[in-house]
Amino acid sequence: MTLPPRFVDLKKQIAAQYPDFEQNAVRSWGEVLEEMNKVTKVVKVEGVDYIPQVNFADLEKLSKEEIERIKRRGTVVIRDVVPDEQAVKWKEELKEFVKANPTVEGLPEDDKQFFQLYWTKPQVQARSHPNLLAATVWLNKLYSARDSSKAATLEGVDLNVPLTYADRFRIRKPGLGWNFHPPHIDGGTIERWEDTHFRRCFEEILNGNWRNHNPFELEGRLDARSSLYGRPNQSSIFRTFQGWLAMSETAPTQGTLRVFPDVLLSNAYLILRPFFTPLVPIDSEDIYDGKNWKFDLSTPDFPGIYPRDGGFYGPRPTPDLHPNMRLEETMTSVPKVNPGDAVFWHCDVVHAVEPDHIGEGDSAVMYIPAVPLTPQNQAYVDRQKASFLEGERPPDFPKGPGEADYVGKGTIDDVLSEAGKRAMGLVM
Ligand SMILES: [Fe+2]
Repeated sequence: MTLPPRFVDLKKQIAAQYPDFEQNAVRSWGEVLEEMNKVTKVVKVEGVDYIPQVNFADLEKLSKEEIERIKRRGTVVIRDVVPDEQAVKWKEELKEFVKANPTVEGLPEDDKQFFQLYWTKPQVQARSHPNLLAATVWLNKLYSARDSSKAATLEGVDLNVPLTYADRFRIRKPGLGWNFHPPHIDGGTIERWEDTHFRRCFEEILNGNWRNHNPFELEGRLDARSSLYGRPNQSSIFRTFQGWLAMSETAPTQGTLRVFPDVLLSNAYLILRPFFTPLVPIDSEDIYDGKNWKFDLSTPDFPGIYPRDGGFYGPRPTPDLHPNMRLEETMTSVPKVNPGDAVFWHCDVVHAVEPDHIGEGDSAVMYIPAVPLTPQNQAYVDRQKASFLEGERPPDFPKGPGEADYVGKGTIDDVLSEAGKRAMGLVM
């Protein structure tokens, strides 16, 4: 599981790029660890209440403080994006679809609950529902250019135009031991350091000004190459937030999402982590003090990044490699949702899925992220459109049977709004 030796050079290259890197990194590491100690305590006490919740109808009325809270924590529950009945109806229709098309691929194979389906009617409808698109525009607009006077010059970018990223859905039954999704970040692995564009997103951290790091700054994101190695299931576009729309009630302990609810801090910690080696056992109390870590460029390790399929996966933080995050205590379940509520988490947020669902009903969601119009995203949507029209799987996803021959596949007539057509690239 070791990384290629050239990653030693990557570390050295980064260290050489930023002035006084070692001195700044050592100081920052101490500060970040101190802040970790504080935040993790609060998160542990507050639990689910730490995750911001707002009503869809109130999105335009939020105070500056509420918006800042959402941005720092990185995750938000938006209530009543679509009516409960509509969301429940979509779930029933999806169940019927799967029944009518028993060859549909899914996991686990003997009792399918997570489906390789992208273009069913409910999915096409939900993604183009005007409220869902409006919620994603609101989320996209939390981002801004570093220099706000430059916003207009970010060519080809329009945060008011939402795009569609077709993904799948799950209808999870009660049961234990779904270990598919331990804490991780999507949308870029080693690219976060290796790709010079992507690295710009974290420039303030590498410059020694981690408190000035703004995870909502557009510049680096626009041309970040999050999939240098073209691995399947590795998103190649810029999602401001990942998200899902609930089609059932799901409470903590019922197989819901868990997050590390401080995206500024987790970014600072994870980006600096590869440059340090612990000097004390990770289970000792001394590990929480930056003085007990050594600045170290001698190994190719990027803790939490692993080779796979000719590329890499991760970041996948673990208690062993990232003890200061105290993941066992800080990975916080999102509050109970009802059908029609949506949950969104910033693209850098460390997230996981509860392995056990000890409730009684379905835990059902459609994965629908927030995607703004950018040149790179539009190029993906154009390729995705072709797959929709052909009934094939979208470009980023594992190859396999398409949906063209399935009974009840979604069509252009299921796109619910003009904005929805634009989002899919069907009209310009
Ligand atoms: Fe994920």
